[in-house]
Amino acid sequence: MTKRRSQHWFGGLGKDAFIHRSWMKNNGLPDDAFDGRPVIGICNTFSEFTPCHVHFRGLVEHIKAGVLEAGGLPLEFPVFSCGESNLRPTAMLFRNLASMDVEEAIRGNPMDGVVLMAGCDKTTPSLVMGAASCDLPAIVISGGPMLNGRFQGREIGSGTDVWKFSEDVRAGVMSAQDFASAESAMSRSPGHCMTMGTAATMASMVEALGLALPGNAAYPAVDARRSRIARMTGRRIVEMVNEDLRPSAILDKQAFANAIRVNGAIGGSTNAVVHLLAIAGRVGAELSLDDWDRYGRDVPTILDLMPSGRFLMEDFCYAGGIPAVMKEIADLLDLDALTVTGKSVRNNIADARNYNPEVIRPRDKALTPHGGIAVLRGNLAPAGAIIKPSAASPALMRHRGRAVVFEDIDDYRARIDDPGLDIDETSVMVLKNCGPKGYPGMAEVGNMALPRKLLQKGVRDMVRISDARMSGTAFGTVVLHAAPEAAVGGPLALVRSGDIVELDVEARRLHLEVSEEELARRRQSWRPPEPAMRGGYQGLYVDHVLQADRGADLDFLVGSRGHAVPRESH
Ligand code: FES
Ligand code: MG
Repeated sequence: MTKRRSQHWFGGLGKDAFIHRSWMKNNGLPDDAFDGRPVIGICNTFSEFTPCHVHFRGLVEHIKAGVLEAGGLPLEFPVFSCGESNLRPTAMLFRNLASMDVEEAIRGNPMDGVVLMAGCDKTTPSLVMGAASCDLPAIVISGGPMLNGRFQGREIGSGTDVWKFSEDVRAGVMSAQDFASAESAMSRSPGHCMTMGTAATMASMVEALGLALPGNAAYPAVDARRSRIARMTGRRIVEMVNEDLRPSAILDKQAFANAIRVNGAIGGSTNAVVHLLAIAGRVGAELSLDDWDRYGRDVPTILDLMPSGRFLMEDFCYAGGIPAVMKEIADLLDLDALTVTGKSVRNNIADARNYNPEVIRPRDKALTPHGGIAVLRGNLAPAGAIIKPSAASPALMRHRGRAVVFEDIDDYRARIDDPGLDIDETSVMVLKNCGPKGYPGMAEVGNMALPRKLLQKGVRDMVRISDARMSGTAFGTVVLHAAPEAAVGGPLALVRSGDIVELDVEARRLHLEVSEEELARRRQSWRPPEPAMRGGYQGLYVDHVLQADRGADLDFLVGSRGHAVPRESH
């Protein structure tokens, strides 16, 4: 057997080995900790600014116990924690930064394998991207969702009901006191959002990709089974090190195709599109935006969870979780795909059962027969744009309307509630300069709230188009990720109020009814917007970020750089 990676630090009688061992003894480690047993890094994204991870100090102890039980040495380390609810201008801006932190922390330190503690939206892709670029054995444990929200006798979902509540306050039908009570009732336990938002989606994606143990996605954060799967994850990573089972063996095209299909079946977040593209880029798997349509198009959405449906993650757990969903759509999956269990998907889901066909519906009672993500093309988005049909209004899926253009998010905020704004429910709201470079960080502002005067008339959905993303907990007929974005001179930049825009989801078409000549004229007078900040990480980000159809990764981070570090530190 070849020498373990960690033994290049801890083995032998040299000066450097003395340094590495001696200082590590500050942790209370006995001599035999360095005898060649697998050293397991545990990448902890705990932060009090990431409230979805408030329980990670306890959860990590279960992982450590599992590692010890299997004969490994667990060593916990912190990395940048991308908390969705607080980070400005948007957590997405920092996904790539966190991935760099993860990659360098893994590569630079004496570990043989790594457990990735993910939860809140961007934490999952950032950890997986970084680990994939190192390609040491890696396994994900998710923090798990919060318990279902309950308010005034009914269930409420993270995020999803926020938009309803805030629109109700704006429309004058909800009091400030009820608003505050709803806040407390929505987040009533540790855990991440319990709707099928981006956190639950990405936890499901890592399970579908084969990067987490079966059942990882759905156990609530406070369920003892969350602690148990953390423990099993700790045990399993030690075996994975011994088997040299690495992300590059798991993350192939079949794994991504499976994940895209599962995303369709669960009505997952549109954010999964950019995250999976970015992860694929790190391992060199050939995945394109069009693969989202190709693999996901005909997958029925069978999971009846908010924002597309009625239930919440706790219900999903009791119904059987991702293994039960994968079993329902087994004929659409590549069952031979390898996973972190060392076994195939077929093996992992063999005993899965659906315990609640209300939550995980049979195929013939699907929420929508065509779930997934539709990839739109046209002169408004030559490199593509996306829409989540299961979150959209059927009546608006084919629509022609007059554009009402907002030049950027400030322009939108300044004018949206202006009683004089020339807009009605047939209008198409267009928001510019909210893409990767424009915002910067491609914020979740694409599901623009509707004008107050239309809300008061009872209008609840309109066609909206932007280069932004939207929260996975949001809903509406919202066209997102238009590429190239307005800030780099994509056609979106050229739309003017009054132009006619045509959306036809069935035909996958997004068209601006303006002649090529006129667009060329407008392009002459277009000037790029001033960047919000120069220098620093934001400056680096704006200079190097790829467009949405490439996963909005930084160009120089694409690919795997392996885990070799030939030089000693002293
Ligand atoms: Fe953390 Fe929703 S804010 S998962
Ligand atoms: Mg495979």
